[in-house]
This record gives sequence, C-alpha cells and structure tokens, in this order.
Amino acid sequence: MPAIRRLPDPLINQIAAGEVVERPASVLKEVLENAVDAGAQAIEVSLDGGGARRIRVSDDGCGIDKADLALALERHATSKIGSLDDLEGVATMGFRGEALAAIASVARTTLTSRARGAGHAWRVDGPGATPSPAALNHGTVVDVQDLYHNTPARRKFLKTEGTEFAHCDDAFRRVALARPEVAMQLSHNGRVSHRLPAGDATRRVGLLMGDDFLAQARTVDADAGALRLTGFASLPAYSRASRDAQYFFVNGRFVRDKLVTHAIREAYRDILHGSRHPAYVLFLDIDPRSVDVNVHPAKIEVRFRESRAVHQFIFHALERSLAQAGAVDAAPAPQATAPDTPPTPFPRFAGTSQQSPLVMESSARSYYDFASAARPTTSDTSVRPTPAMPDTPAGEAPPLGFALAQLHGIFILAQNAHGLVLVDMHAAHERILYERLKTVLDGAPSLQRLLIPAVLQLSPREMATADACAEVLAGMGFEVSPAGPQALSVRSVPALLASANVAELVRAVLAELDDMPASQVVTARRNELLATMACHGAVRANRTLTVPEMNALLRQMEATERAGQCNHGRPTWTQFSLAELDRFFLRGQ
Ligand SMILES: Nc1ncnc2c1ncn2[C@@H]1O[C@H](COP(=O)(O)OP(=O)(O)OP(=O)(O)O)[C@@H](O)[C@H]1O
Ligand SMILES: [Mg+2]
Repeated sequence: MPAIRRLPDPLINQIAAGEVVERPASVLKEVLENAVDAGAQAIEVSLDGGGARRIRVSDDGCGIDKADLALALERHATSKIGSLDDLEGVATMGFRGEALAAIASVARTTLTSRARGAGHAWRVDGPGATPSPAALNHGTVVDVQDLYHNTPARRKFLKTEGTEFAHCDDAFRRVALARPEVAMQLSHNGRVSHRLPAGDATRRVGLLMGDDFLAQARTVDADAGALRLTGFASLPAYSRASRDAQYFFVNGRFVRDKLVTHAIREAYRDILHGSRHPAYVLFLDIDPRSVDVNVHPAKIEVRFRESRAVHQFIFHALERSLAQAGAVDAAPAPQATAPDTPPTPFPRFAGTSQQSPLVMESSARSYYDFASAARPTTSDTSVRPTPAMPDTPAGEAPPLGFALAQLHGIFILAQNAHGLVLVDMHAAHERILYERLKTVLDGAPSLQRLLIPAVLQLSPREMATADACAEVLAGMGFEVSPAGPQALSVRSVPALLASANVAELVRAVLAELDDMPASQVVTARRNELLATMACHGAVRANRTLTVPEMNALLRQMEATERAGQCNHGRPTWTQFSLAELDRFFLRGQ
C-alpha cells in the first residue's frame, strides 16, 4: 500500500460534494435554505438547462459582509452555530458550514452580496478569490454555473433536462410550502413556472397543491404542549396512486422519516385502500432539542428523541382530523335558522358535485338502528322496515335530507336543502357497520341467537381454524361448535350482523382468521377482520329498500364517524346542488 497522505482541500470538498450535491436540485435546496436563514422576504430563482447549466438565486436577506464573503465558500465555515450546545438546539436550516464549499468545488460559483448598512455590494468568483466591488441593491445573489464541469464522472449521472428540472421544481416547492410568508418565484429557461406572493399557509398550499386538494382536505391543527401538528391532509376521495403529493416538515425542514410515514399510514388505514396514497402537507413543530437534524449531510433525515411519543401524537392528531367534520372551507356548525335567512344549514355542500365531508350532528338527532331493526331470527338476508321517519324540528333539515327513491337497487336518491344526494347503499351501510362493530367489540359482544342453529359444511382446514379460534369467535359473538367431522353448528352471530348470510359470513371470517397469526387477531389486524364482517353484513345491491329504511340509513350515516367513505376508501355519497342541476339543464341562461 502507498504511504498515507493528507488529501488536498479541493479534493476533500469534492468528496463532501458527493454527499451534499447529488444533482442540481440539491444545489438549489442548499442555496434556498441559505436565503431563508438570511431572513429573506423575497427569493427569485432562475434555472437554465434543468439547473445543470445554471442556478441563480437572489434574495433580499441580511447579506454577507465583505470580510466574510470569501469565508462563506470555505469548508467548515458558518455563521449559524459556534458550539455543541448551538448544534443541539439548532433552529436554522443550515449549520454544517459546508454547502457552499461543496457546491463551489464542483461548479463555477459566484457570490455577490451587500450586507445591511454596507455602502455597496462585493463579489467573489470562487473559493480563494479576493472580493471585488459589485452593484447590488440588497441581499445576496448566488450564481452556480456548469455543475460538474470538473468532475466528468459525476456529470454522466445527470438525467435529462426535464427530469433535473422536475427535481428542482420539487426542491423549490418544499421550501415554498414551508415559507408562505416569503414571496418566491421560479423560472426555467426564461419562462416563469411559479410566481408565489407572500401570504398565508392556506393560500400557498392552494397555489402549489391545487385548490382541488384543499377542497378535498381536512385541516389539521393539534397541539400537545411540546408538539404541534398543523396542515392539510386529503380525504380518501383525493387519494393518489403514488406518493408524489406528500410533504412533511419538522420545524420547517422537509424530511423523510419512516416513523412519520408509518404514523400517517396508520391514521389512514381504516379509510384508505392499501394501494392508494394520501396527499398531505403537514408541519410538525417540536422543541429543536428533542430532534436531531444532524443525521445525514443532506439533512433530509431526522431522529426524534421521543420517537414513540411523536408517532402516537401524529397518528392520533391525524386520525381525529380525518374522522371529524370540517373541511378547509367548512362553514360553522348549523344553527337554528333565523327567520329572515334562508335555511342553509350546510353551505359546504353547495356548488360541488364531489364528495363533501359529512357534517355530523350527533346530539339531538334520532338514531335509528338500521341493522337491528332488520334483525331477523333466521339466516335470511332481508332488511325489515324500520320505524317511521324521525321527527325533525321544523327548519332543521337533516344534512343528507330525505329519501326519494332507490335507483337500480344500488343507489339511494335523496333530497336535501341543497339539491340531490346520491348514496351508494352498500358502501354506506358497510361503513356504518364497520364503525359500530369497532365500538361494540370494545365491550362485551352483543350477539343475536339464531332460532335454528345454522349448520355449515366446512373443509377440514376451516374446521381446524374454527377449533383453534373458538375463543376469538366467541369474543365477537359467534357461538360455534362442531356438528360432525366437517360440519360446524353456528348458534349465534354478532347482533349487528344479524341480517347477513350466516354461511357466507362465517366462511369469510374463518378465511381471514386462517391467514392471520393468532397474536394479531385482537390487535393489528382486527380491523381487517371487522371490515370483512361489515362487508358481509351490509345490504347488497338489488335489495329493495322501503323509504323508511332508506331514511334510517341516511340518519345513521349522519351519526357515524367517517361516513363519507366506505372501508375501502371509496366515497359513500355525493351531492348535486340545485345550481349544478340548473347549469346542467341550462336553466336561466
Ligand atoms: N443567501 C445568503 N445570505 C446571507 N448569508 C449567507 C447566504 N448564503 C450563505 N451565507 C453565509 O455563508 C455561510 C456558509 O453557507 P453554507 O451554506 O456553506 O453553510 P451553512 O448554511 O452555515 O451550513 P450548511 O452547510 O449546513 O448549509 C452561512 O453560514 C452564512 O453565513
Ligand atoms: Mg447552508
């Protein structure tokens, strides 16, 4: 082996650049973060050639003194921390003092800056250069050209201009979402692609994520003393096939974190199909001393000191927001209508044909038990008529209105204050049963004894599962016992599922239990099991419902958390406002 040598500084910087400057977007990220740290109120970015040819960022921040200018391009030089204690409580985006040095080692980098109070600006052309006077009104301009001009091996890894620009665009969005108070502009090859005025978070999110996202998102605002979670999380109807619209920030820093992703995933578990992904922009505020940001050179990973608590907090905050009523632009809860105002208890419904969040009035609303009213004492699947329609106080129409008719045995048509409500009967009933099964199972199982026990012919494997899981089954309300080598006698089913086809229900439950390790039955996968049961218990297509039955279902939907989506994340109902119907028929035009 050759003798050990000290590496020359430029090479050290280029090695560091390998971690920090992965592609043009990473240069943009670092330079944007510096502008933010400098207290900029306006930042302008112009890119050429996907950022590989040029990245120029100007800001109106505090600027850099002439004396510090050359130092800014040197390694291990920072104005942001000075001690280990500073590092442990760091509140700025940067702290490593290496980004500009790394960038300058792999690209032609010019820094022009005018510190506050300085007579004019100064400029340095690369590391080690002496500052020369320059013209600039305020702030700093960082100009980075020809990335990897001196490291051809790295240059080969650059993708097409379009791809590199897409990454730069994402880096820009991440900073822009976290800093709505800063006016920001991005242009590429001379064309402006984002022009964002300074404003509030909602406006900024609307500009970057689209107003349809906002319309389909719940506001999140949860506070637990040392932790706060704010932002927006999409309802299942807005879910996506990929994870491209997920932004999570810790103290304003975009991060990717397994723990956080897991907590969010869990919060969506009951309402989103596994193959779909939620869209969200969420901000976690936490004491900087409780989180370590010095985990990775690109600072995109963090480590929480109390990871378990953070996980629980995010999970509960999000789950609660998703379950509750109140979209971004939700109106205040309905009140008794004043005589001179038209009854518009749910303005949120107006003007949208998309899934709207269901506003729930749990208190005084009559609660009709759809399933138990239909409770047969045999295994037939019929749904019995429910009691007459609930008395509704005058002027206080229920949100989902009253049923008019059933369409093709699949949909319920109802009329409410705003127009037409369309309900997917099965999906809606499934959601109701599912939520109720969850609460019922937390207590003692309430079961429905069958007048005549159902005897099912089962496979040896099903019999074995029934035997192994007898206790679990009993806990849910299924009383079963062998009636022969391949026959199972079922004497009771969960009361909520009394109208289900017993044979199908029990077979489905056994199939679920079969591929479920015993330890998970009562914990992690219990909800999957309940979902299967709810699906079997829910009214099937082509079942004719009477008007009172349909109204009972509507009232239950209003009283059920998350009734806006079925367990599989499909919407359960939608609204067509009179205005939309008018427009459709060109009325008044
Ligand atoms: N836009 C800017 N306005 C004012 N000062 C700046 C600007 N950009 C850089 N600086 C100064 O240059 C120093 C070096 O910047 P650099 O990005 O290399 O390191 P850092 O931000 O301190 O840490 P990190 O490597 O984690 O980004 C900063 O500490 C800051 O003092
Ligand atoms: Mg920096």
